[in-house]
Amino acid sequence: MDWFLRDFDHPAYFTIYADKAADAALEGPALAALLDLPAGSRVLDLPCGWGRLNPHLRARGLETIGGDRSPLNLKKHRACHPVPLVCLDFRALPFRPACADGVFCAFTSWGYFASEEENLRQLTEFARVLRPGGVLLLDLAGRAFLQAAMVGVEGDWLEFPDEGYQERVQWSPDRRRIRTERLCQGEAFCHDIWIPTDAEVRACLDQAGFEVAQVYGELDGRPWTEEAERWIYRAIRR
Ligand SMILES: C[S@@+](CC[C@H](N)C(=O)[O-])C[C@H]1O[C@@H](n2cnc3c(N)ncnc32)[C@H](O)[C@@H]1O
Repeated sequence: MDWFLRDFDHPAYFTIYADKAADAALEGPALAALLDLPAGSRVLDLPCGWGRLNPHLRARGLETIGGDRSPLNLKKHRACHPVPLVCLDFRALPFRPACADGVFCAFTSWGYFASEEENLRQLTEFARVLRPGGVLLLDLAGRAFLQAAMVGVEGDWLEFPDEGYQERVQWSPDRRRIRTERLCQGEAFCHDIWIPTDAEVRACLDQAGFEVAQVYGELDGRPWTEEAERWIYRAIRR
């Protein structure tokens, strides 16, 4: 089974990422502002997860439709934030071409697939469902920041006793992907995510049919730097 089908659709996910609920109060308004679409715009929240950012999109008057592959996340979303939701896969979105004004892709939700073709396919699907002039906000972890954070701890098992899990982080041998192994609730999990360079993100966006309008380096909208923790691309559908 692909790692992303299992890791995100397990109760342990909500334990490991418990702090992301509180982070939403900061991330939601900031990312919704960087998306920068007028009230009334139709925004596909892909992936929506359990909906932690949804109230902040709606607070700006955006009409949201959430999509995610995890039934467990969608069930929690439905209970907390009952808006239109669809169970879907990034590689074949069940939406009409040009039906949306915006696609909101938050919290490092690209690069999950093993092949470059599938990762590009996710972006071409985003482009297909956006109207010309529509906006994609792609919020990624900065590669250099991750690289620096892993120095001295790469390959070591780290304990997070309060959160209730152990974690070991390693680059793949070609240093293109990061594998994050976790032990939680007696089970083993392993994220395996492509961590692209800025040039690779821009090349894929271009190939998928996007023009990069802005790249932000943090949630507060400061300009991109190589070392920034977040690389947030605002790209326009050609
Ligand atoms: C890191 S979470 C981010 C969720 C949300 N954007 C947030 O900020 O809370 C990644 C999400 O991607 C979903 N996902 C993973 N692979 C997917 C796929 N192939 N198609 C659709 N959703 C997928 C997972 O189920 C999970 O909810």
